[in-house]
Amino acid sequence: MESTGERDRLVRPQPPPFFGHAAIEQRVSDLLARMTLEEKVGQLVQFSSGGATGPDNVEVNERELAAQGFIGSILNTSGADDINPIQRCAVEDSRLGIPILFALDVIHGYRTIFPVPLGLSATWDLELIERCARMSAVEAASEGIRWNFSPMVDVSHDARWGRIMESGGEDTLLNEAVAAAFVRGYQGDDLSEPTSMLACAKHLAGYGAPIGGRDYDSVELSERTLRDTYLPPFKAALDAGCATMMSGFHTVAGVPSTANRHILRDILRDEWGFQGIVVSDWNSIGELVTHGVAIDGRTAALKAFSAGVDVDMQANLYVTQLADLVRAGEIAEDVLNDAVRRMLRLKCALGLFERPYVDAGASSSTILTPAHRAVARQAAERSFVLLQNQALASGRPALPIDTATTTVALIGPYARSHHGLLGGWVMRGRDEDTAPIAPALGERLGENLLIADGCGFERDERDAASIQEAVEVARRADVAVLVLGERWDMSGEARSRTRLDLPGGQQELLKAVAATRTPVVLVVFTGRPLVLTREAEDASSMLLAWFPGTEAGPALARVLCGEVSPSGRLTASFPRHVGQMPMPYSMLSTGRPVDSDTGAHAMVVGYRDEARASLFPFGFGLSYTAFEYSTTAVSADALSARDLDDGAMLGVSATITNTGSRPGTETAQLYVEHRGGSVARPTRLLKGFRRVHLDTGEECRVEFTLSAADLRYTGEGVREVCEPGVLSAVIAPHAADGTPVSVQITT
Ligand code: NOJ
Repeated sequence: MESTGERDRLVRPQPPPFFGHAAIEQRVSDLLARMTLEEKVGQLVQFSSGGATGPDNVEVNERELAAQGFIGSILNTSGADDINPIQRCAVEDSRLGIPILFALDVIHGYRTIFPVPLGLSATWDLELIERCARMSAVEAASEGIRWNFSPMVDVSHDARWGRIMESGGEDTLLNEAVAAAFVRGYQGDDLSEPTSMLACAKHLAGYGAPIGGRDYDSVELSERTLRDTYLPPFKAALDAGCATMMSGFHTVAGVPSTANRHILRDILRDEWGFQGIVVSDWNSIGELVTHGVAIDGRTAALKAFSAGVDVDMQANLYVTQLADLVRAGEIAEDVLNDAVRRMLRLKCALGLFERPYVDAGASSSTILTPAHRAVARQAAERSFVLLQNQALASGRPALPIDTATTTVALIGPYARSHHGLLGGWVMRGRDEDTAPIAPALGERLGENLLIADGCGFERDERDAASIQEAVEVARRADVAVLVLGERWDMSGEARSRTRLDLPGGQQELLKAVAATRTPVVLVVFTGRPLVLTREAEDASSMLLAWFPGTEAGPALARVLCGEVSPSGRLTASFPRHVGQMPMPYSMLSTGRPVDSDTGAHAMVVGYRDEARASLFPFGFGLSYTAFEYSTTAVSADALSARDLDDGAMLGVSATITNTGSRPGTETAQLYVEHRGGSVARPTRLLKGFRRVHLDTGEECRVEFTLSAADLRYTGEGVREVCEPGVLSAVIAPHAADGTPVSVQITT
């Protein structure tokens, strides 16, 4: 018997919502029986609207294809004016009138932009993430988008990889929980509601681990690491009802993701029972030729389809090859029918046959509503991570700012920026909808706010003069708030970097302002962990703001001025040096852990020229108040693996007290280590977390229950096991804190 442990509590598994309805099955079978081979293939064809497509850049006339019933889905168009004319061709001119499904990447909001996903994950607030996803769906669906290529659930341990910005960070369980929250939000309670859109968990699997942190590069993973670290978020998305998944551009142990039968069929369909659609990534079927596993378009289409890719995004290969491959007997028509059935089933479940068109007026009441803006502001506030807040000579830290008595110099390229605050995956967000920082601070500080741009993101010959101007402004202030970081387009797809420092003249600007001895608050905008080792010396306070979205200004002003206390916690470790990458907190002990030998020439796993530890660890974040943890308690000193398998649970608890002078929200994190099993296990692995809000002086007991499912891993022989051994558990404020207690796991 399986009990509900922490993972299930976070993921909330439920039966898939989109199959098994008798009326839908009947309709799908009727349609299928009347379709020609070409019409069937058409359902598996996807093009990007308006553009040239495929490896040969063939122009596509989407209306003509739609009228023939040869196109099943289209991405990158939205709104009644653009969608309805194409849809009319499909519904009114094609033989069977099957509507087209319109898709888009709605990654962190549609018109109301929420923080980038890495920032959203730093809230550790699953209900809030679900609400952001729901609002994204309400906005996007009102403009005809019923298929969203989100969430990206690729675990990443490497900040050089720019797409870490789109992920839930470095931890597997957190990515599982975040994936499920996104899926629930996008798909809603009922797919047939006009506000629902299909979610798409991507990119199956391991895409977040390219060698060298280079986007699109090869991935080398053992089956164990694949199963324990990279696959679980996809399983969690599936358990939450996710209707679609996407393959990737990369190879996994030499096999391209888009031709990876082991992952896409053996695991996804046969082991997990996935019933939804698998879509390729953009021309990733065409790229099978470039990878060298296919010699031409025909073999590429054959390999991708046989491996389990249902829909061809943009390669122009299914439309040209699939029917022939079926006629030649290389693909069984039954297998093709299964894929077509999956697509038709989803179209039925969405109610597309009943409501194929976009209601031209609908989005006026859904987009950028006060409620959406309020949630965008709250999400931004909760995503901010206070990294440092040292006491000044006065005995108080610079944050929060006392608005009645402080003159603030706001300095840096983000001071007056609009677009930069939105982040890197913004398809429909607009600059003019974005609330910038200077006016929001101005509302609170009036004439006590001074502003200077300082410098840009690239080196410029004008830097010296504008840095000097910023220095003058800083001299006239009590506190300098430096708003620096990556430019919005420095993280994201194909945005790998070898340098993780503040780009352009920003380090120089910070040094020059710090030299004035005006205390510095550094606010960092970024889509990835940056190296802030030198900055931590120059700034007395540091607040990580990610890319906060539409409500950036008010959210930041409220946190800086103490109207809310920061509560975000890192979901990816911040390194001391880029040379440490990749560097997850969840490392194995190794035979020579870093503290096993402290001699001058220690022969341990580390560096000669840099510490082994991160600068700011996974889970870390301060607040304007302080929290204390009791020692961790467990419900039993010993437990048998057999009892666990039969449904026994292990309770782990601790008391947290707000010992500071303000209310605040803490995120308690449960980590475990298992020793004595068949394989080496990480010295810390997140197994649960709770956000708790505590008033001054208030305490609360946080309790976790671990089931066998929480403790299983891939043992020797690639079998899932819950093994005897010693389990250490600790409830701590971050991955590098706390003293674990031990529990014997007997046979
Ligand atoms: C390529 C990206 O890898 C994928 O995540 C995205 O959904 C598609 N382009 C479509 O825009």
